[in-house]
Amino acid sequence: MGFIHELHPRMKTLIALSGSLRRDSANTTLLRAAIALAPTGVRIVLYEGTDRLPFFNPDIEADPPPAARELRALLSAADGIIVASPEYAHGVPGAFKNMLDWLVGCAELSGKPVALINTSARAVHAQAALAEILATMGWRVIDAASPVIAVANRGFDHAHMAADPALAGPLLAAIEALVQASVEPGVPS
Ligand SMILES: Cc1cc2nc3c(=O)[nH]c(=O)nc-3n(C[C@H](O)[C@H](O)[C@H](O)COP(=O)(O)O)c2cc1C
Repeated sequence: MGFIHELHPRMKTLIALSGSLRRDSANTTLLRAAIALAPTGVRIVLYEGTDRLPFFNPDIEADPPPAARELRALLSAADGIIVASPEYAHGVPGAFKNMLDWLVGCAELSGKPVALINTSARAVHAQAALAEILATMGWRVIDAASPVIAVANRGFDHAHMAADPALAGPLLAAIEALVQASVEPGVPS
């Protein structure tokens, strides 16, 4: 969007994190739609290394394996983070929580704005748990960037999501709210 580009001539980079490893994941597909919708001056990059991270172990946290080191560097350099995750048994998927555990001790991520998008209106438990986890990690969950966009179990591809105003509208608004939060760190979420 023009206003973002005018106010912030430097390119903004947002990292998208999916909580699902499933090939046809609705959460990952929504994040791919976000990439397609990225306004001028905003670059969205999907992180695809969750399944290559070893199990988190505090014993090796100070000298982390390369995959964890790369993840930390990627997120530390980002202007904001977009999270979309399924709910498994009223909780956060284990692989995704493992990824987050590698980031708990990463002080560079403190205050990082995050859009927490829920792809299923009935998945209230994982959404609430993620909001609590991310806040505890010191990330700044931006309410205006955290809508429910109900695409779970609907079989849409990312082109459909990006073309349907009922889905693309709130997704683009979330991206814009996240970018805005990244330049106004003092504004409460
Ligand atoms: C093991 C498992 C447990 C699930 N538990 C829940 C649940 O507790 N609540 C819910 O709303 N959906 C639950 N679901 C449904 C998924 O959240 C839903 O299918 C979601 O779209 C999957 O996300 P994805 O398409 O990004 O992989 C579960 C699915 C699986 C595979």
